[in-house]
Amino acid sequence: MKVSFASFLAFISITFASELPSDVNPTTRSTYNFAIDTANQGTLAAFKCIYNLGYKTSFIQVYNPTNSGSVSQYGNQNVVASSEAGLGTEIYVTPSPSGKPAYQQFDEAYNSVRSYGINVVKIWLQRLSLERSYGVAVGIYTNWYQWLLITGNTIQFANTVDLWYWDAYGTGGSAEGIADFSDFRNFGGWSKASIKQFALNEALCGIWINRSIYAPSALKKEPILLKDSVNSTFKYNVGGFV
Ligand SMILES: *[C@@H]1O[C@H](CO)[C@@H](O)[C@H](O)[C@H]1NC(C)=O
Ligand SMILES: *[C@@H]1O[C@H](CO)[C@@H](O)[C@H](O)[C@H]1NC(C)=O
Repeated sequence: MKVSFASFLAFISITFASELPSDVNPTTRSTYNFAIDTANQGTLAAFKCIYNLGYKTSFIQVYNPTNSGSVSQYGNQNVVASSEAGLGTEIYVTPSPSGKPAYQQFDEAYNSVRSYGINVVKIWLQRLSLERSYGVAVGIYTNWYQWLLITGNTIQFANTVDLWYWDAYGTGGSAEGIADFSDFRNFGGWSKASIKQFALNEALCGIWINRSIYAPSALKKEPILLKDSVNSTFKYNVGGFV
């Protein structure tokens, strides 16, 4: 009895997350693009399913905090699968706060993706590690409280770094935050955010994901496939979709 009740609940939560949010009014749904992010392994079929549900972008973890900072095992494969599925793909790095030097972790992440034959336009960081410049754009994932604790609310990055903030009540479909930007308050010199994560740890198309919204912009249109001007070979492009 207990077992079947648990699987019934699992079924409900998977069903719930398997679409764009039904709790959002139609204006909001047509105003924002929806994105997923994941630290888990996805398949081409999973990313295609996500694309077919109307999601535009996926954020792939390519570096994680284990063993003082490590390249994520499935990161590059996920980037390729996500791009192949038609999603604009962004990459994010979750460094270890107490492991290898921050610049080294950034180097390892960047080099791993590049050496997989992927062109990197932008990298999102889940902690501050901005000692070096690579000619790639940088975004940061944080919220007002974490920013205050870690940086004392410094404003030094607001003009050069895009902001991805999060606001959810907890994990799962029943604890989602609001799928709009009405709760945003200025901090760290940012007067607006590029993207907001409002849903944590939901199952979608057979993988565990988080969900975000962002405003579509006519200015931000990187191609998913980039053609080399010299020899006409193609590479996937990450970053610059949000
Ligand atoms: C969702 O985001 C949180 C916070 O960054 C992270 O710890 C978690 O691993 C993410 N969930 C998935 C399924 O990637
Ligand atoms: C095409 O040219 C780029 C540099 O412009 C190079 O990195 C790449 O390896 C070349 N590909 C082939 C198949 O020659």
